[in-house]
Amino acid sequence: MNSERTLVLVKPDGVRRGLVGEVIARIESKGYAVVALRMLQADRALLERHYEEHLGKPFFEPLVEFMMSGPIVALVAEGNRVIEGFRSLAGVTDPTVAAPGTIRGDLARDQGTKVLQNLVHGSDSVESANREIEIFFSGQLIGESK
Ligand code: RTP
Ligand code: MG
Repeated sequence: MNSERTLVLVKPDGVRRGLVGEVIARIESKGYAVVALRMLQADRALLERHYEEHLGKPFFEPLVEFMMSGPIVALVAEGNRVIEGFRSLAGVTDPTVAAPGTIRGDLARDQGTKVLQNLVHGSDSVESANREIEIFFSGQLIGESK
C-alpha cells in the first residue's frame, strides 16, 4: 500500500462556472476517494502561505487577486499515486495547450487575464501535499489526531 493524499482546489473560476461537481466527478470516476471537503473565501494571508513558492514572481499579485475573487472549494483526495494522478487529470498549467480529456484542456481557455485562470490546483509533491493539507484542513481530517 502506497496510498497518498493530495490537496485539490477548485479555483474561483471553477466555482463561478458551476464546475465543482464536474471536478469531483472526474476525481471519483478515476477511482480516488474524497476524504475532506470545504468551501471558503481565501484571504491574502492564507494565499501567501499556499503560494509561498511564487512570492516575488510577476504573476504573484494577479494570482492572489484572482484567488480572492470568489469562493473556492478545497478537498483532499486519496489513493495510490494520487498526487501524480490528479496532476494528470488536471492537465498542464496553460489551458490553451492542456490536452483534451483533461480538466483544463476540456473546460478552460485563455481569457486574456493577467494570470492564467485554469480551474483547479493540485499539489505537486508529497511535501507540498502535506504542507497544503495542513494549511486548508489543519487538524480537521477524519482519523487525524489534533
Ligand atoms: P497549481 O499550483 O495552481 O496547481 O498550478 P500549476 O502547478 O500547474 O502552476 P504553478 O506554476 O504552480 O502556478 C500557480 C498558478 O499561477 C497561475 N500562473 N499564471 N504566466 C502566468 O500567467 C501564470 N503562471 C502561473 C496559474 O493559475 C497557475 O495554476
Ligand atoms: Mg503549482
